[in-house]
Amino acid sequence: MRILITGAGGQIGHDLIGALVAEGHELVSTDLAPRPPSHAHAGGDWQRLDVTDAAAVQHLFTECRPELVFHLAAILSASGEANPRLAYDVNQTGTWNVLEACRRARVNRLMFTSSIAVFGPPPSGPLPDPAPDDSPLHPGTMYGVTKVAGELLCAYYRKRYDIDCRGVRFPGLISAAMPGGGSSDYALFMYVDGVRKNGYEAFARADTRIPLMYMPDGVRALLELAMADRSKLTRTIYNIAAFSPRADEIATSVGRLLPDAKFTYKPDTIRQGILDSWPKAIDDAAARRDWGWKERFDLDGMTDDLVPRIRRMLELGAILSSH
Ligand code: SER
Repeated sequence: MRILITGAGGQIGHDLIGALVAEGHELVSTDLAPRPPSHAHAGGDWQRLDVTDAAAVQHLFTECRPELVFHLAAILSASGEANPRLAYDVNQTGTWNVLEACRRARVNRLMFTSSIAVFGPPPSGPLPDPAPDDSPLHPGTMYGVTKVAGELLCAYYRKRYDIDCRGVRFPGLISAAMPGGGSSDYALFMYVDGVRKNGYEAFARADTRIPLMYMPDGVRALLELAMADRSKLTRTIYNIAAFSPRADEIATSVGRLLPDAKFTYKPDTIRQGILDSWPKAIDDAAARRDWGWKERFDLDGMTDDLVPRIRRMLELGAILSSH
């Protein structure tokens, strides 16, 4: 299948490109960066694309005529609070540009990556735990606001123009690839810095609990939903869940493999506030029922897979030791 990815240089693109190339798809990866940021992003064609540039998006989509688009380009929650205008431009206008280009270039299917950041404490009281798909959405960040709008735009384009938009609300994703400005990054750095620096001072409290997922499961969820039979789907956007550990439970899991690693906690006011506004767990019953979603990795399973993987990447120089 001919597939185009936006924001391919980010944390999800790093693993998604490999999975799509391995499946033999014809791939066009696009990103603001003119070249792939690492060898792991290589595979298929790479083109520079700024999703805020409507004409450029339109031109490339018309030229490539992809059958399926994975729209990953976004400014994450913590970076978005530092620069709300940029988050609005990339996440809101960028998503609009991508949807419009899909409509005009007659792209059949669009995969949208939403997030647990669409949730926030409703004025009437705390979020249900776990939070169902149809919880009232009261995001507290510009990232979350634009993801809610993106979800609604996907539903609109599906209904109005019959573009087969589908999406998942990702938990915080953990992998060996460097993230860019997310509030869930503390969890990833417990692994990366646990291995390369023998410890990490988390910007979150020890009792912080949010939904998390290991990237191989996240990529598989995107592929499975993208390929699912349309007649089985009852929703446009699906919650997907894996596990919801406290930060100190992650430390305990990592400590099984790195007994000398020291983890301390020094909450950052802004990022802790964002984390506290997110659900502790989400209910993904609809994804399980409609397209058979099921995670393969629990916390310890992820730790056992990821720690040796990070060691290997450090040895190969694929993770910068100064990052
Ligand atoms: N991981 C993202 C963030 O922290 C949430 O989708 O912003």
